[in-house]
Amino acid sequence: MSDFYGELCTKMYEQEKSLAEEKELEFYLSYVKNQEMNVLEPMCGNGRLLIPFLHKGINIEGFDISEEMLKVCKEKGEKLNLNPHVYKQGIEEFKSEKLYDLILIPFGSFSLLPDRIVNKSLQNLKSALNSKGKLLLTIMEKGREIKEVLDWTETNRITFNNETIVEYKKVTFNKQNDMIETELKYQSIQNNIVQKSEFMNFPIKLYNFKKFENTLKSNGFQDILIHVVENGYGDGSSFKVFECS
Ligand SMILES: C[S@@+](CC[C@H](N)C(=O)[O-])C[C@H]1O[C@@H](n2cnc3c(N)ncnc32)[C@H](O)[C@@H]1O
Repeated sequence: MSDFYGELCTKMYEQEKSLAEEKELEFYLSYVKNQEMNVLEPMCGNGRLLIPFLHKGINIEGFDISEEMLKVCKEKGEKLNLNPHVYKQGIEEFKSEKLYDLILIPFGSFSLLPDRIVNKSLQNLKSALNSKGKLLLTIMEKGREIKEVLDWTETNRITFNNETIVEYKKVTFNKQNDMIETELKYQSIQNNIVQKSEFMNFPIKLYNFKKFENTLKSNGFQDILIHVVENGYGDGSSFKVFECS
């Protein structure tokens, strides 16, 4: 059985990536021109970005397919006396009568979508965008060397509240369709005994930016810009963002 962003994966994500900060947050906040704007974050996960937005009084809603991630997002919001409006929804089936002024998909999450739902998902976003609204979207870029890992290898370990969660990975690269196929295994260990194991298939699409620009155009987007956010994920770690309307 495969859990997608299940309990253990979500716990590890939350321990390490709880809240967006500094340059990344500043970049996305710079698009919020007033408190009346309606913002949407599809694939919002644990609210890493959504919660800091909400904390600043911005009207933001989000959705995701992982119940565990949504639960963490809601709990985190409640601890800050916030009430995040987040719900379970796949982006490929998303429909909205409400129109948004800003739609954000940070952190390369769009690369998690299989090819067969990319066009539909973009069309759904375009339909939910106000005529003057903007989409900010990140994808994983093609070009870097991919190191394959053929045997289960420990790649992360965290300990908190008497529980240790260990992450193991196997990685293969499918050159035909530019997919990094990662298998993840999470184990929860307490008192040296494995209490729970979780498996997750984690395919990531690597994109050519020029081709993706054409994909955006063919799904109705225009005025396309690419921004580079220098040191956006911390010193020495920059990322690119598509802006379009
Ligand atoms: C890497 S996490 C990013 C979460 C958050 N946006 C952030 O910046 O930290 C990717 C999220 O995308 C969600 N996701 C994957 N496929 C999805 C789909 N088809 N529709 C909606 N959410 C999806 C996952 O459940 C996961 O929470």
